[in-house]
Amino acid sequence: MEMTRREGLAAVLALATTACSGNYSSPVNSVGAASTIDSLHKLAKAKGMRFGSAVGAGHSGSGSFRNTGYASLLKRDCGILVAENEMKWQSLRPDPLSFNFAPFDEILAFAEKNNMATRGHTLMWHRPQWQPSWLEAYDFGTNPATEAARLLTTHITTVTDRYRGRILSYDVVNETVMEDSTLAQTAISRAIGGTETLVDLAFQTARAQLPDAQLVYNDYMSWEPGNEKHRAGVLKLLEGFRARGVPVDALGIQSHIRIDTYDPSTGTGPRQEREWRKFLDEVVAMNYDILITEFDVNDQALPGDFSARDRSVADYAKAYFEVMLDYPQLKDVLAWGMCDSYSWLQEFKPLRTDGLAKRACPYSADFAPKPLHSKLAAALQTASAR
Ligand code: G3I
Repeated sequence: MEMTRREGLAAVLALATTACSGNYSSPVNSVGAASTIDSLHKLAKAKGMRFGSAVGAGHSGSGSFRNTGYASLLKRDCGILVAENEMKWQSLRPDPLSFNFAPFDEILAFAEKNNMATRGHTLMWHRPQWQPSWLEAYDFGTNPATEAARLLTTHITTVTDRYRGRILSYDVVNETVMEDSTLAQTAISRAIGGTETLVDLAFQTARAQLPDAQLVYNDYMSWEPGNEKHRAGVLKLLEGFRARGVPVDALGIQSHIRIDTYDPSTGTGPRQEREWRKFLDEVVAMNYDILITEFDVNDQALPGDFSARDRSVADYAKAYFEVMLDYPQLKDVLAWGMCDSYSWLQEFKPLRTDGLAKRACPYSADFAPKPLHSKLAAALQTASAR
């Protein structure tokens, strides 16, 4: 996703050892000592909203529910969770015939035990590099359209059957609009006869399965300069859904906001607020709800100093939330991780040129709340009720 614009398709993992320098041996102390910290979900709930985060099912030193310190943050701040990777085809579908539900099931069990809702991400991440390799190499046979439709509908039916009544909001399709505003193509979209056909069928299948669930198109178009064509492509897709009567309820706005250029006069980075509001206006005018599905702040262009950087990140986020919370259609806000150490941004290029960890999330590596947490709390406190 984001890597395509600035990183030339480089979803290259690199170890960010600097990110993991926090003291994880006493997370309970850190969290316990901070027990007076506002719960973001509690503040959201008071406004008819929900706050949540991505979580993984990995080992206890990762952004997983198995990490007791991290789990404490989730329990404090979240009323809704989303699996960072465990519902993707890459994780669920080791091969064309089987499903590996165990990791996702564990996340769902953790959420339910702690009275949290869970979102589904995602029934189709429509980029070739994020499909399982077997699917990109798949032999669709002599009637490729039929076989592609069978694969897609079997997947969606199986997943939604399994979690019926427990997952009420799905990112049915993720990132099918390219940054140049064209639609992505994959082996399965070519086999079925085109991207629109594939995407429409995904939503139609999900709706037939789940008449009352929230069906979301999720993407990363954003407010920074450079997103103009991507935004236009998403609007065109949303218009097409309405024209064709495709059952889509909401736009998931990932909100991986970023400071690519440091502007010393504002202390943050450039954004196109007017154009962004116009984009949002057009989305809601088509009767779509909006969600923030994957919020974090990429601080790669900010000077290294931690306290100044944390303030700038928080200010940038505050400006973003001032716009977003103006829209009563926004009811769910999910962070893509709560703690800097486990953020995908520590691993995906480009990394910071000074080699320091990014400070993208509400909590630092030692589970201490940062200015970003306070600014999110303040934004939710001043939001109008919905
Ligand atoms: O689990 C394997 C592990 O077995 C292996 O040893 C290791 C070696 O590289 O890779 C591990 O898998 C990685 C996985 O994250 C779990 O850590 C994948 O390589 C890596 O590609 C994957 O990255 C995820 C990425 O999506 C691709 O699925 C990130 O964690 C996740 O944060 C990111 O999330 C996406 C959203 O789904 C969509 N929007 C953008 C967002 C950020 O890129």
